[in-house]
Amino acid sequence: MGKNRVIIGCQWGDEGKGKIVDLLAAEADVIARCQGGANAGHTVCVGDQKYVLHLIPSGIIQPGKICYIGNGVVLDPFTFKEELDFLTGKGINYAGRLFLSPATNLVLPYHKLIDAVEEETRGTASIGTTMRGIGPAYVDKVARHGIRMIDLFNPDRLRHRLEYNGKMKSRYIEGSADERADLELTFEKLMKLVDLFRPMVVDVSYHLNQAYREGKSMLFEGAQGTMLDVDLGTYPYATSSNTITGGVLTGLGIGPHMIDEVTGVVKAYSTRVGAGPFPTELIDEVGEKIRIQGDEFGATTGRPRRTGWLDMVALRHAVRVNGVNSIAITKLDVLDDHAEIKVCTDYELYGKRIHEVPLDLAELAHAKPVYTSMPGWCADTTGVTSFQKLPAKAQAYLNYIAKDLGVTICLVSTGAKREETILV
Ligand code: GDP
Ligand code: IMO
Ligand code: MG
Repeated sequence: MGKNRVIIGCQWGDEGKGKIVDLLAAEADVIARCQGGANAGHTVCVGDQKYVLHLIPSGIIQPGKICYIGNGVVLDPFTFKEELDFLTGKGINYAGRLFLSPATNLVLPYHKLIDAVEEETRGTASIGTTMRGIGPAYVDKVARHGIRMIDLFNPDRLRHRLEYNGKMKSRYIEGSADERADLELTFEKLMKLVDLFRPMVVDVSYHLNQAYREGKSMLFEGAQGTMLDVDLGTYPYATSSNTITGGVLTGLGIGPHMIDEVTGVVKAYSTRVGAGPFPTELIDEVGEKIRIQGDEFGATTGRPRRTGWLDMVALRHAVRVNGVNSIAITKLDVLDDHAEIKVCTDYELYGKRIHEVPLDLAELAHAKPVYTSMPGWCADTTGVTSFQKLPAKAQAYLNYIAKDLGVTICLVSTGAKREETILV
């Protein structure tokens, strides 16, 4: 049997999942995305080429790999088309190896309009969404009036569902001069994509189960990160899907027996983009230094990411809710130039010291980090490919993280490129 792995973000997204999936895809047969949508931005750097993927699994860059987008994803068909064109422009042929679930809900232009209006209405409590229409599309899904991929192949049904949605969303749509509110235009634009999408639609659950029976090796690519999970993240400052391992099963239609290992991706420090609690946030020159050296600007929106020290309390939560067995630690090189590195071991909340996240994760807004200080290695680790060749202080930092979390390190990333990696 091939080994099947989940690759999941352990923090607030942007941990470097794209790099890890691309790298591990070399040894895999199948790569599948299970949740989220074009709010994700997964960067893959190969040679002098940089690819930022929003919807298409990061495995697509490796020639010949089969990629699936599952029912748990909310797919913006127009962004998807742009991404296909982008790949074609880069000389990557996806024909016959990229498949979509018929049950994938679509993100349509009116979802983006609603996302924008809702963010504005939230005022000072705005989430700082990516404006990709993610929340409104998931709302439609659970409200049972979402429009799914399969509806594209039945124009009468599509038109009927669009009209129904127009009624349900009349307060956003009726009388709006915004092009995104024009349902007839949306219908016409969708119809132009039907022939492109038709050959890609397959029973993803069936295909993955077949691949499993044939002993194929699979990678399940998570999007966002644990702390953005709609149930177990810092709600309401979260995304609208289950970003944790559980989302892999529901988002692809597979059973737990098809997962051999859960690899949590952990950035060597913390970042967050958008609003919401972030206990270890550094609003000082150290935070700015990390932002610049880590090039911490959103892959989807270009927004500067908030930066801070590693948060072990949040990571303990991530290891637990995902069932993480091994971790891939990324961006170690970004900390090369720090004489002192801090790690948050506990929080202080209302005068009490706590070792695990509080019952209500919204309380993270009041949690003060308790730090332990570690000496920095002050040496260049960029491109190091062997654990033993890392400075002793860098090894100590990595070992500290693994020991606290009770997991093994399977990989350390020392640069954005594929080969800048230590396989442990
Ligand atoms: P994802 O959303 O988890 O796939 O992560 P993003 O692609 O949004 O952000 C990670 C960023 O860090 C990208 O620009 C990557 O090219 C870059 N990156 C990944 N691993 C490393 C690393 O080990 N070192 C450095 N310096 N950059 C890295
Ligand atoms: P990847 O897969 C980092 C954040 C947004 C916002 C919140 C809700 O690249 O790690 P949404 O548009 O989903 O309604 O926004 O979630 N967010 C991400 N942050 N990486 C991501 O994806 C994210 N996807 C959403 O910034 O705070
Ligand atoms: Mg990203």
